[in-house]
Amino acid sequence: MKILVIGSGGREHALVWKLAQSATTTQLWCAPGNAGTDGEKLVANGRQVENIAIGAEDLSGLLAFAEANQPDLTVVGPDNPLSMGVVDLFQAHGFTIWGPNQKAAQFEASKAFSQTFMETYGIPTARSGVFSEVGAAREFARSLGGCCAVKADGLALGKGVLITSNEEEADRAIEQVMVDKSFGDAGKQVVIQEKLEGLEVSLHALCDGSRYLLFDTSQDHKRAMDGDLGLNTGGMGTYSPAPFLTGAQLKQIQIEVMDRWLAGCKQEAIDFRGMLYPGIMLTQDGPKVLEFNARFGDPETQVYLMRLKNDLPELLMASASGNLQGHELRWDERAATCVVMASGGYPEAYPKGKVIHGLPQVADLEDVHVFHAGTARDDSGAWVTSGGRVLGVTALGADLQKATQKAYLAVEKIHFEGHHFRRDIAAKAL
Ligand code: AMP
Ligand code: GLY
Repeated sequence: MKILVIGSGGREHALVWKLAQSATTTQLWCAPGNAGTDGEKLVANGRQVENIAIGAEDLSGLLAFAEANQPDLTVVGPDNPLSMGVVDLFQAHGFTIWGPNQKAAQFEASKAFSQTFMETYGIPTARSGVFSEVGAAREFARSLGGCCAVKADGLALGKGVLITSNEEEADRAIEQVMVDKSFGDAGKQVVIQEKLEGLEVSLHALCDGSRYLLFDTSQDHKRAMDGDLGLNTGGMGTYSPAPFLTGAQLKQIQIEVMDRWLAGCKQEAIDFRGMLYPGIMLTQDGPKVLEFNARFGDPETQVYLMRLKNDLPELLMASASGNLQGHELRWDERAATCVVMASGGYPEAYPKGKVIHGLPQVADLEDVHVFHAGTARDDSGAWVTSGGRVLGVTALGADLQKATQKAYLAVEKIHFEGHHFRRDIAAKAL
């Protein structure tokens, strides 16, 4: 089977790495990929993965590549091409592509759409309102005592959310999103939610349009610094499983979130084939949905795919073609931890082109895998940084403590100027 993966982050490197292990994968491309996806070897025939210099948002370029090379399956990593309709486009030209179509991708592309959907179908979420007018937004924020999450409606690369603790902060946040347009046109509409307290978990459900398979649990660390301080990022580290989620809570989430979501999709003729990834807060009043994403999480994917035992092409093919019935997910009993090494300054401005040292020293560590995100090769062939999140150092261990120790052992061997990482990944669970 010939497979095309779209995207260039750590998530895509993890997808490429796992797809390359399948006995059925005979050729694999990544558009545009990164220095880690380039040259990964296919287990089936020793062939190398090829990076293709086509951006994830260059839909016509991607289609032209598919027409010329006829992939049997295309796998979409990031949310932007999904909301731009890459799935609809590929399907219209007869290609099998994994990911939700444009209508279904609205769950992530529009927070207002998701919020209305959750209210309509009784999915537990934060008290909230959708506003396109500053005065009304302020009034609602005041009714919450200024304790809220102010969210730009559209896609803002996981950064369009401001958390506030009093009326003054809320006023400023609304101004920033709606008037100053800090997140661009995504801020034309805002969703304001009451601020929820509790532990946050990442849930993933692989869907085929009429059923879902729930992944094991994981937890991300969104803030830049230890102790959940600093700015929100795309994610600084993950671990799986997340041991504090009880079986009863999981059952409740299945009934109140996933089953109601599926019923709502049926009602609204939304054919969701792909990954639904709800961000959930475990509050004192039970689990509540903060948002829906319509793709694999990054860096959740890195820990999930280290633990997933199934053949990934087979699973994604079944999801894309509406045939998940009879499939069961099988997980490595061991735990996995991923520590993200980021460029100095990230999530704000950061330099690029810093030489990355130490990768050969960790290449042979057992049960450790370094997934590349923002990396490239310079003219001399050396690995250099080219993005904010640079590497996702991921390890498997007999338990969470061992996995985490192993990941940090590898992190200590890798170096690039100005790098930073959190030292407390998985600490909440240990
Ligand atoms: P989102 O993009 O909606 O997931 O928001 C990004 C992050 O902001 C989440 O992962 C949470 O850590 C935080 N957040 C979002 N909504 C809320 C809320 N209603 N209450 C508290 N924190 C929130
Ligand atoms: N792990 C955060 C995200 O993928 O949005």
